Amino acid sequence: MCGIIGYIGSESAVPVIVAGLRKLEYRGYDSAGIAVYEQDGIKVIKRKGRLAELERHLSEMTIKCSSGIGHTRWATHGEPSDVNSHPHMGSSNKVAVVHNGIIENYKQLKERLEKKGVDFASQTDSEVIAQLCEYYYNGDVLETLIKVSERLEGSYALGIMFHDKPDMFAAVKKDNPLIIGVSEHGNFIASDVPAVLNHTNKVYYLNDKEIAVLYKERVEFFNFDRERLDKSVETVTWSMDSAEKGGYPHFMLKEIMEQPKVLRETIASVKAVDNLDISCYNKIVITACGSAYNAGVAAKYVFESLCRFPSIEVELASEFRYKDAVIDEKTLVILISQSGETADTIAAMREAKSKNAVTLAVVNVVGSAIAKEADYCIYTAAGPEIAVATTKAFSAQLVVLYTIAVAFGTKLGKLSDVESKLLTEEIVALPEKVAAILDDLEYELQKYASTCIGCKSIFFIGRNIDYAIALEGSLKLKEISYIHSEAYAGGELKHGTISLIEDNTLVVAISNSERLYGKIMSNAEQVISRGAKVLLIGSCAGQGGDNAQDSDKLSSIALPECNPLFSPSLSVIALQLFSYYVAANKGLDIDKPRNLAKSVTVE
Ligand code: F6R
Repeated sequence: MCGIIGYIGSESAVPVIVAGLRKLEYRGYDSAGIAVYEQDGIKVIKRKGRLAELERHLSEMTIKCSSGIGHTRWATHGEPSDVNSHPHMGSSNKVAVVHNGIIENYKQLKERLEKKGVDFASQTDSEVIAQLCEYYYNGDVLETLIKVSERLEGSYALGIMFHDKPDMFAAVKKDNPLIIGVSEHGNFIASDVPAVLNHTNKVYYLNDKEIAVLYKERVEFFNFDRERLDKSVETVTWSMDSAEKGGYPHFMLKEIMEQPKVLRETIASVKAVDNLDISCYNKIVITACGSAYNAGVAAKYVFESLCRFPSIEVELASEFRYKDAVIDEKTLVILISQSGETADTIAAMREAKSKNAVTLAVVNVVGSAIAKEADYCIYTAAGPEIAVATTKAFSAQLVVLYTIAVAFGTKLGKLSDVESKLLTEEIVALPEKVAAILDDLEYELQKYASTCIGCKSIFFIGRNIDYAIALEGSLKLKEISYIHSEAYAGGELKHGTISLIEDNTLVVAISNSERLYGKIMSNAEQVISRGAKVLLIGSCAGQGGDNAQDSDKLSSIALPECNPLFSPSLSVIALQLFSYYVAANKGLDIDKPRNLAKSVTVE
């Protein structure tokens, strides 16, 4: 979490840094701050609250400078406050630091420094980095950064300014992302590409334990042996438009609307992993966090159906990493991650590799840690996803997973060429169906959502793969609307949770399987007879509520016909629109829900 940026060049640094922070605010928004050079040394300006607070403060000041670093915070150690905001300075004002990550041994380091007379100002783990830098700083930047890095345990991406070096600043990283952008007017560090896209699409990806020293006209790279590195610059294909709202009130709505295009591009670009021979494996484990995990739950049903593989498990990465999994070189571990930087998913990948399992990653961000470290990587072509709640990246993950399942099923001889071709055609038809839902059902979902803003609790139910998408619908709703929500397999409600159903509790029932339509309708009737109202969503919803005991209590939103295995791609669009409009009707900050951040780079 947290976003860092730095700039040195010929443009006025403050607006460049603030604009970059705006693009990084999705990573955390508890406070924001900048450090710049003024004639009398480094000046830090920082404020608790959204970036807008800092901007308001900066607008009352005149600052002339051509370099600086900035930070937007997702608080971990120390409450959101001015003093806990970044940048942090050493107590003699010689060093300013912005940090993304967590320093696990900060208490020990702090104690040691305090014994040597260093005064700490904040409760953060990050301040220890600034104090340590200042403690070791002898004019030699490389030596200082190497010494500091060797003493830090945990994860960090750092931007560091030194009081006597106004013509440069430095960066170093371990286990947190950092890119170096190079433009005609100057050079950048940033946690993520969108922060620099307005200026350049040429970036270097900094690896762990590499140091970058940035000057106005050049960037130098070193390893911890002080050897100069010859890194190659890469051209980012993401466009600037993709990081702008483009007239929509929120990035989330824009990203929901982009899905037909994203699906088309992802389907066209997925190259099934030809060199990965699935017949060498006897077990598949899918692991991820949050929505990516929900995509994995859906994928498990698809893999089971199309590949008839003997053992397919889906695990939360945060659990998998600590469970001493029974896996070996005959296990394929599939990791799913939009950011490619989620700490638990990275740890799960490393755990899998340590047991000789082979790893296949489905990732959106090019050059991210998971993309680089996994044995195989397939990219989703979702482009930058700015809204904290994932939509288009989730949809792109689904189609990649379907494609892999078809390829594996075919390779394993479980699908004939004809079946494989038909399934592929069904996948290719999805973007048009998604477009039809966006065109035809947005208003209906918006209208229904407007009746739900007073709901205290909303339940989502589904059976089989509809249950997987119920999980995602429920997560989407709660994270942006702050309405309590839970998802259940349709048959489970009556085993306890049904006691929570009261008059007018909303239950969203998902139904895309003819075979299970009667079953889910029985579940709907059970809750309707206890006072609930039901919103039925899915390709079966068009059949009407003829079995429902109380049709006033039942509303239906019919989705296009689709192979049930691929129906999550359609159901999720309706559920995203529903959640979006519930939150929009409540007037909430949809793109930046409270307490959340987009990349969860801490445990
Ligand atoms: C929810 C959401 C999160 C992410 C999760 C994993 O809308 O976005 O639950 O899915 O934090 O993130 P990635 O995919 O970056 O590993």
